[in-house]
Amino acid sequence: MKEQILILDFGAQYTQVIARRVRECRVYSTIVRFDMRAEEIAALNPKGLILSGGPASVYAPQAPLPDRGIFELGIPILGICYGAQIMAHFLDGKVERGQKREYGKGTLLVTDPFSALFANLPDSLQVWNSHGDKLTAPPAGFKAVATSDNSEFAAIEDRERKFFGLQFHPEVAHTPNGREIISNFVHGVCGCGKDWTMGRYIDEAVEEIRAEVGRERVLLGLSGGVDSSVAAALIHKAIGDRLTCIFVNNGLLRGGEARVVREVFGRNFKIKLQYEDASKLFLRRLKGVTDPERKRKIIGKTFIEVFQAATKRAGAARFLGQGTLYPDVIESVPIAGNPAALIKSHHNVGGLPRKMKFKLIEPLKCLFKDEVRQLGMELGLPHEIVMRQPFPGPGLAVRMVGEVTFRRCEMLRAADSIVVEEMKASGWYYRIWQSFAVLLPVRSVGVMGDERTYDFTIAIRAVESQDGMTADWVKLPYELLEKLSNRIINEVKGVNRVCFDISSKPPATIEWE
Ligand code: XMP
Repeated sequence: MKEQILILDFGAQYTQVIARRVRECRVYSTIVRFDMRAEEIAALNPKGLILSGGPASVYAPQAPLPDRGIFELGIPILGICYGAQIMAHFLDGKVERGQKREYGKGTLLVTDPFSALFANLPDSLQVWNSHGDKLTAPPAGFKAVATSDNSEFAAIEDRERKFFGLQFHPEVAHTPNGREIISNFVHGVCGCGKDWTMGRYIDEAVEEIRAEVGRERVLLGLSGGVDSSVAAALIHKAIGDRLTCIFVNNGLLRGGEARVVREVFGRNFKIKLQYEDASKLFLRRLKGVTDPERKRKIIGKTFIEVFQAATKRAGAARFLGQGTLYPDVIESVPIAGNPAALIKSHHNVGGLPRKMKFKLIEPLKCLFKDEVRQLGMELGLPHEIVMRQPFPGPGLAVRMVGEVTFRRCEMLRAADSIVVEEMKASGWYYRIWQSFAVLLPVRSVGVMGDERTYDFTIAIRAVESQDGMTADWVKLPYELLEKLSNRIINEVKGVNRVCFDISSKPPATIEWE
């Protein structure tokens, strides 16, 4: 069985970050619910447990509480923030309701030079706090190993049982030595090796896919995005020609997209690729439609139809491959006031497979996005595919306010290609979440040469984001904006004005529709 650390999720905003930090230490980690029973945990044989933070107070009437039995398993435990308070609460320490939240940067003074958590770290560390309740007396067997301005018990440990509690958050970037603290826990305390590597993951996944698929065939809808591309490359490595990828051109793709996908997958990887050009059908159905929700519905429905027909042509297959990622399958903790419970992606969870009689193969479903990118690199996919920005399923249709026509698609494609090209040339493309052009139905007066024009407007959108749920607009340099504007106005016929979108999400969304 693979060595792993289990993270009990008490509903913190940062639970997934903890899991990623552990994996960055090359140790596999899994997020489970806070109330998983101790016997079930024992059956998974983890090398250590981490109790996440959470928005609740241990005294709140519906505070999420773990099975008391976890403290009897003989497994090392690290409690972070709420997790530390839970530990103190269950083991008879003292947690007091804070009068005010301690929030922001603080300084930690390590008072015990022999504490395993702070091995090889300086005595004074910058840390990030965000908690309401406060530990005021450690449970029996524990002692303070670090203090802060605000707390005598900023870090506590029970050396014998290998239990640790931290009031601050080691997982966030604002705690610069946090990685070492987590590494000290998983390697130094729990004794984990460094076995979680993408090379090893490929070997194991290939074995698993082969065992599951046997002599059967797999179909996979390739979108050109990172996830489906990496899933395709991985499944192809496992079963070669028994994988057929279906690529649907809905007429709403970026410039050059169909060509790149056919080149990379068909020509270089020699993956069987069934190219379905349904662009005319999509555009016909979208004719005259301007309402964003209706556009999306029509595109979704048409896609299912086209894809279903394509699978019939692809011949008998029992399996459908999908690039589902770990964040899509983590069950969110149903705690009142937990923002993570609400932020559940509504995208990418289409009803497609359930309606169809396929068994799913989801070889990325325990990976985070950055791991999928690493995996893609190891599998030899080009940087251009592995590092590309997200692109919505309904494509250019949601970046075109008003009616979707071939002519308008061509206009937007041309403007968008300029944005992508210049963002790449200036080095900004790979630094941010998304950057693209939007076509507005607004016409305005201009002059070009001696002539008066009455043409359309392009908006440029560039945003920074961790996961697409919230986003900030990017302060692109004026020189770059100037270049984008000049090129778009000069090169895209029908456009005489360029604007820059300076709205954040919320309240605006990233896409315009
Ligand atoms: P919004 O516009 O909701 O977008 O702020 C958040 C992120 O999701 C992407 N997006 C989609 N992705 N199918 C997708 O696969 C969709 O229908 C869809 N709509 C939006 C968007 O590009 C952004 O990254």
